[in-house]
Amino acid sequence: MPHNNRERDLRGDVDVNPLFARPGELRSRPRTRLADLPMLPETAYQVVHDEAMLDGNARLNLATFVGTWMDDQARRLYLEASDKNMIDKDEYPSTAAIEERCWRILADLWHAPDQERAIGCSTIGSSEACMLGGLAFKRRWQEARRAAGKPTDRPNLVMSSAVQVVWEKFCNYWDVEPRFVPITEEHRTLDGANLKSYVDENTIGVVSILGVTYTGMYEPVLKVSRALDEIQHETGLDIPIHVDGASGAMIAPFLQPHLEWDFRVPRVASINTSGHKYGLVNPGLGWVLWRDRDLLPESLVFKVSYLGGDMPTFALNFSRPAAQVLVQYFQFLRLGRLGYHEVQKASMEVAKYLADRIGAMECFELWNDADDIPVFAWRQKPGYGPNWTLYDVSDRLRMKGWLVPAYPMPDNLSDTVVQRVVVRNGMSMDLATNLVADIEETVAYLDKLTQPLPDADRSVFHH
Ligand SMILES: Cc1ncc(COP(=O)(O)O)c(C=O)c1O
Repeated sequence: MPHNNRERDLRGDVDVNPLFARPGELRSRPRTRLADLPMLPETAYQVVHDEAMLDGNARLNLATFVGTWMDDQARRLYLEASDKNMIDKDEYPSTAAIEERCWRILADLWHAPDQERAIGCSTIGSSEACMLGGLAFKRRWQEARRAAGKPTDRPNLVMSSAVQVVWEKFCNYWDVEPRFVPITEEHRTLDGANLKSYVDENTIGVVSILGVTYTGMYEPVLKVSRALDEIQHETGLDIPIHVDGASGAMIAPFLQPHLEWDFRVPRVASINTSGHKYGLVNPGLGWVLWRDRDLLPESLVFKVSYLGGDMPTFALNFSRPAAQVLVQYFQFLRLGRLGYHEVQKASMEVAKYLADRIGAMECFELWNDADDIPVFAWRQKPGYGPNWTLYDVSDRLRMKGWLVPAYPMPDNLSDTVVQRVVVRNGMSMDLATNLVADIEETVAYLDKLTQPLPDADRSVFHH
């Protein structure tokens, strides 16, 4: 919510339209404290429904990677299970079994060498999953260092400067030094070049991103792994990789099945994905898996008896909705490999169409094509303008209901502003044709400007 709206939102009472208020009901309610009297559920529903309507249409939100479309049957399951808590595994044994089935399906999809030895769990999203992957790295490194009588006070994690904010949070919250390898025009992802100067005996691991948030590009996991092989050969350091496959881990198995990024690469210790992104479930669901249970230190797993039974848990949250896990299983059953392939291919075709059309416009150049996940970014051609920027394009498209964010690239590329489209299930070719027409119309309008528009609200876009 823009700043001025937020201020306005804290003032005055909530008005209830006379059409919705029932006879005898109060027509206003305090905005930021509980009213003394209750409200009829129909009236309360209408008030909340109407206000949420102002958020716009989630399917036109091309900024988010998170699912905005589900089958009616998936929605029904979601509602039916909305009262189940995922942590109550002893009470809901079927849901617990389904959770395990889901991560075992992922272990198979990601080529775990020994299904029996793989281990995983569901999470609230990739952020929690990444935290767990990072924590396992840190604890394993600490245990190995302690056993060798070495200090454990300065762990570091190596990753691209274009990581999603969760990795910065991980380092900040758990006292790990982040070592960012800057992306450049020549090295648009962390590709193993110059990795040697970033790792040392305190490196707990390297993060490889499958579907960089800024652009959708895959980092070449195999190349990074080979660079680490060389480092091991020279120094003896054996540094593991965590693949942050928040989006790509549910695209690559279906659209690039021969790409080796997963447990086929022996150095890959753990992988996360968001069930609620290309796993095709509404928010929030994530998954994290380790290739072998030995890679998840026993000391991180808690056994709680008050749930009944003696349940091992490894998670940041205790209570968490179970409905998304059931819907994930529904999607696995409903779609199978072929279904996932078809759905992801359809998104890819739409993304490629959009990239072709946008890339062909005189004012834009693509930063990357939609070659990896159905996501691509573009920038304004150098020298084009000078009366408008991509921020103006974003603002004008918002008037038509589309959310297409513009933002600076990280660190030493921060002078480069890009705009990005995330194509998800539910973005049809018809909608894409409309988007292209709206972008063309927007550019035609902006091209007519004789001076820049007054500064718009450039609220920072969060990845
Ligand atoms: C590469 C990457 N990692 C982690 C995340 C965080 O995922 P979640 O929103 O599921 O917590 C995202 C979200 O976009 C992402 O793109």
